[in-house]
Amino acid sequence: MAAEVRINASCGGDGTCGKCRVIIDKGSAKREPSPALSQKEIAEGHALACRTLITEDLEVRIPPESRLGKIADKERPQPSCGHLVSSAEWEERLANFAADSPFKKVCLSLPEPTLDDNIGDWQRLKRELGKNGIKNSKIDLPVLKSLPETLRKGNWQVTVTVLQQGNECKVIKVEPSDTTKTHYAVAVDVGTTTVVAQLIDIVTGKTIGKRSNFNAQASCGEDVISRIIFSTKDKGLKKLQSLIVGTINKLIAELVEESGIDPDHICGILAAGNTTMTQLLFGFDPRYIREEPYIPTTTLFPWIKASDIGVEVANHTYLYCFPCVASYIGGDITSGVIVSRMAESDRLTLFIDIGTNGEIVLGNKDWLVSCSCSAGPAFEGGGVKHGMQATKGAIEQVRIDRDTWEPMIITVGRVKPTGICGTGIIDIIAELFLSKVINQKGKFDLEIDSPRVRKGEFGPEYVLVWAKDSALDVDIVLSEADVENLIRAKAAVYAGINILIESVSLNLSDIEEIIIAGAFGNYLEIEKVVTIGLLPELPCEKFTFIGNGSILGAHAAIQSQGVLKEAETVAKKMTYLELSTNTKFMDQYISALFLPHTNIEKFPKVIDQLEK
Ligand code: FES
Repeated sequence: MAAEVRINASCGGDGTCGKCRVIIDKGSAKREPSPALSQKEIAEGHALACRTLITEDLEVRIPPESRLGKIADKERPQPSCGHLVSSAEWEERLANFAADSPFKKVCLSLPEPTLDDNIGDWQRLKRELGKNGIKNSKIDLPVLKSLPETLRKGNWQVTVTVLQQGNECKVIKVEPSDTTKTHYAVAVDVGTTTVVAQLIDIVTGKTIGKRSNFNAQASCGEDVISRIIFSTKDKGLKKLQSLIVGTINKLIAELVEESGIDPDHICGILAAGNTTMTQLLFGFDPRYIREEPYIPTTTLFPWIKASDIGVEVANHTYLYCFPCVASYIGGDITSGVIVSRMAESDRLTLFIDIGTNGEIVLGNKDWLVSCSCSAGPAFEGGGVKHGMQATKGAIEQVRIDRDTWEPMIITVGRVKPTGICGTGIIDIIAELFLSKVINQKGKFDLEIDSPRVRKGEFGPEYVLVWAKDSALDVDIVLSEADVENLIRAKAAVYAGINILIESVSLNLSDIEEIIIAGAFGNYLEIEKVVTIGLLPELPCEKFTFIGNGSILGAHAAIQSQGVLKEAETVAKKMTYLELSTNTKFMDQYISALFLPHTNIEKFPKVIDQLEK
């Protein structure tokens, strides 16, 4: 931690995932035995960082596969199937949201008090605000305390920052002279894996800086469930809260440094995150999210001073979090639904955000129904032997020659491979299926005449990269168990989609648009996800990739009060279907545990490809 080396800790320190492996070169430590380590490895000094007690100075090596790399931040070119909304197109779309920010700055020249006009300083300011259309204003106590001095320092010309909350206005800052040109806010996507922050110029509505980093809570578990479990440990909740605030603080500090702005001019933070992340940001106990009937502390959040929860910004900076729908449909989804404008559309739209949970919303301007299915960590490289996040060295694209079974791979950063990220895993499985190395159940054909298809230590596997060509000293493989993990994940998402469609008595063919949101979704190849049966086979023109809907919605809300109002309306009107108690879900899920599906006739193009 102190050396800024981030170690993978998928299971949150349970000693089961084996991803936090380090090698002790000098010194000794108390190592707990673990099935994740063989006797030979223990003899060679391998240890699980989470299960090792340091008793003396050590020299430790951290192998590349145990490190969390840097987040790859690159814009994807237009995919061959579907339309990707580019950053440039987004800037244009965001400009179409009404320029009516909840944060307003207004420069006022007040008449100096006289014996005839001797009302109090606050009443004088309030009177002038009213003349400028800002009615029902209140003032924060610290601002009121310093008001007499500020007014006189500015020679009765001051810039007032107000926070508009519905019909009420709160004066959050008064400063001498005219500073209306310097007016900023930060949009934050509080992701379970990654946190993204953007610095927004409220005057122009433009993004002037963007930073992202891993959520520091990753050291306490990979997904929301392991974080909730961690929160129940002694001081666990406090630690999780301070880790996420620490990540946000770091990102804001970097944005400020990079842009050279005065941080005192940041007046607001608009954040969107899943329900658990939002509860943890506020420090609310999330434990009941995990227990039936799955209840969070709150789904609607108050405006608060950001500094009250430890965010290192000025005392006048206010923070708001997008409202959630239920325990497993959070503010990130509300935010994405709004910015994609599906809640204003006549078209029947399916909105999907795939990560460790698959969050799905179906509907249009009249109605919205949603569900969340636990996909597990496979799409983010977890639960897969050589799985990793989409950082430098991750295999992200694969093609397998149908005659020789030789692969062609592309890695993030075009460097020697370290592992396979989610999109790479989908690619390999689709390719292995189309080249008949695996069958519809995901079972390997060990009769295939290639050294790459073999029986490995943990069952059948395909060697994607030989040790000599990899950044590790072992072969990079995808095993039958890995394939099974991914089939379970994709089956949960496909079943969730079908349950929503069935719940409103419609068919897949009725869907007019599919919006794919989220960092992972943005890199998907539709042909590949359809081949494995993660998404239904529909014409390319129906697919739209919007990228990180969560941060885009937060950006839109900085510009427009209408977005905030709509967020509350959408969160209240969206129906949530609980799948864990839905008997039909299990039937749909079991039918989807095949490549692409038990009923392959639903995928005619996949049949064509198999017959080629
Ligand atoms: Fe150490 Fe999972 S085995 S974090």
